[in-house]
Amino acid sequence: MNDHDFNIANLRKNYELKALSESEISENPFAQFAIWFNEAIECLIDEPNAMALATVGSDGFPHNRIVLLKGFSSEGLSFFTNYNSLKGQNLEHNNKAAVLFFYKEMERQIRISGTVQKISEANSEEYFASRPKDSRIAAWVSEQSSIIPGRYILEERFNELSKTYATGEVPKPPHWGGYILRPQSFEFWQGRANRLHDRLLYRLKDNIWHCVRLAP
Ligand SMILES: Cc1cc2nc3c(=O)[nH]c(=O)nc-3n(C[C@H](O)[C@H](O)[C@H](O)COP(=O)(O)O)c2cc1C
Repeated sequence: MNDHDFNIANLRKNYELKALSESEISENPFAQFAIWFNEAIECLIDEPNAMALATVGSDGFPHNRIVLLKGFSSEGLSFFTNYNSLKGQNLEHNNKAAVLFFYKEMERQIRISGTVQKISEANSEEYFASRPKDSRIAAWVSEQSSIIPGRYILEERFNELSKTYATGEVPKPPHWGGYILRPQSFEFWQGRANRLHDRLLYRLKDNIWHCVRLAP
């Protein structure tokens, strides 16, 4: 395809489905997050729990990837991964991170930033045990983010371990588990007409959430 066939600069959409005002938003950003998350489920958004997780490497470069939100409460947002992965290494060095949800069908974006900690081994064990057996085996197979000689290595290890664990439980690898992001800010973005979008930002100051409006 060349420039004559298609001009990317002409891709443009008007946002006019909904509005977001200070009068309707909850005082508590966790409650507001729950409202929008539940509305995303009701709207049948595909994978509403998929979030882009941004971390920062020791070289100062940001790294971004999708992970799945597996729980949230007033404590924070939890997700699971391989602690030895790039994101795990980034978080070891710098525990500040941000997540982003984009619900395009609802013309909404949610940004959350905060600090990340590992959850307890007991809680990681509990979630690991709830995963399908093949996923539990895959957690042993994949040295996530490391360079491998080819796909065959994954298939070989998977077949080998499937035999090893043909009967009995698959234990959780020690390097696999959950993290919790403890939010320090939330921003709710609702697309509006004429690019005059609504942006409401909550920030935590002295343990109290304050909400301000940002220019779009
Ligand atoms: C829809 C979707 C869901 C994903 N969920 C997870 C997840 O929950 N945990 C995870 O470690 N990786 C998940 N991944 C893979 C990550 O995006 C990424 O490739 C992997 O974690 C390695 O990232 P890293 O090298 O930056 O650590 C998911 C990818 C997609 C596209």
